[in-house]
Amino acid sequence: MKQPSLKINKQLVLRQLEKSDAESLVKYGNNKKIAVFLSDSFPHPYKVPDARKFIRNMLNEARKKKPRDIVFGIEISGEIVGCIGLHKIKNNHKAELGYWLGEKFWGSGIMTKAVKKISAFAFSKLQLKRIVAYVFLNNKGSKRVLEKSGFELEGMAKKHIKKRNRFLDVYQFARTK
Ligand SMILES: CC(C)(COP(=O)(O)OP(=O)(O)OC[C@H]1O[C@@H](n2cnc3c(N)ncnc32)[C@H](O)[C@@H]1OP(=O)(O)O)[C@@H](O)C(=O)NCCC(=O)NCCS
Repeated sequence: MKQPSLKINKQLVLRQLEKSDAESLVKYGNNKKIAVFLSDSFPHPYKVPDARKFIRNMLNEARKKKPRDIVFGIEISGEIVGCIGLHKIKNNHKAELGYWLGEKFWGSGIMTKAVKKISAFAFSKLQLKRIVAYVFLNNKGSKRVLEKSGFELEGMAKKHIKKRNRFLDVYQFARTK
C-alpha cells in the first residue's frame, strides 16, 4: 500500500516516518509524562535504537498489501514531533487508534485535528466501519481529544492493559461509520 501524506494545514502534516526521523522521535518521545499514558510497547526511557526499530517495523508494514499497522509521523514545520496510528487493522472493518505528541505542543488542538484527519482517512480510504481507542482513566486530555473528534464512550474495559505487571482499567471509546 502506498501510504499517502495527509495535509492538515501549511505547517501540520501527517506523513510516513523515515529512517532519519529517529532522533526527532527520541527528542519528543523520551518523556515520562508521555510514557505513563501509553502501553509497555512504548518504552521509557525511549532511545534511538527503540525509535529505529519502530520506524523499521512500520516501514515493513507499509510495504505490505494489507498492513496490520499504519503509522504517521506528526510533522510540524518540517519536524516530526509525535505519532498517530491505526493498529490491529482488520480490512474493511476496524482498527485501534493510538497517538502521542511532544509536550511542547500540547493544548493547541493539534491532536484533535490529527485524530479527525486519520479517522476520515480510515473511513474513506480503508473503508473501516469502526475505530476504537483505549484511554487510561486519569488521561483527561486524551479523553477530551476523543470527545472533540466524534468518538463515543462505550464503557470501561477492566484490566484491559498490562503495564509494568499491573492490569489497568481503561475507557473504551469508538467512532463508527
Ligand atoms: C493526549 C494528547 C495527545 C493531547 O494532545 P493535544 O494536542 O494537547 O490535544 P488537544 O489540544 O487537541 O486537546 C486537548 C484537550 O484536553 C484538555 N485537557 C488537557 N489536559 C487536561 C486535564 N488535565 N484535565 C482536563 N482537560 C485537559 C485540553 O484543555 C483540551 O480540551 P479543550 O480544547 O476543550 O480545552 C497529549 O497530551 C499527549 O501526547 N499525551 C501523552 C500521550 C497520550 O496520552 N496519548 C494518548 C493515549 S490514549
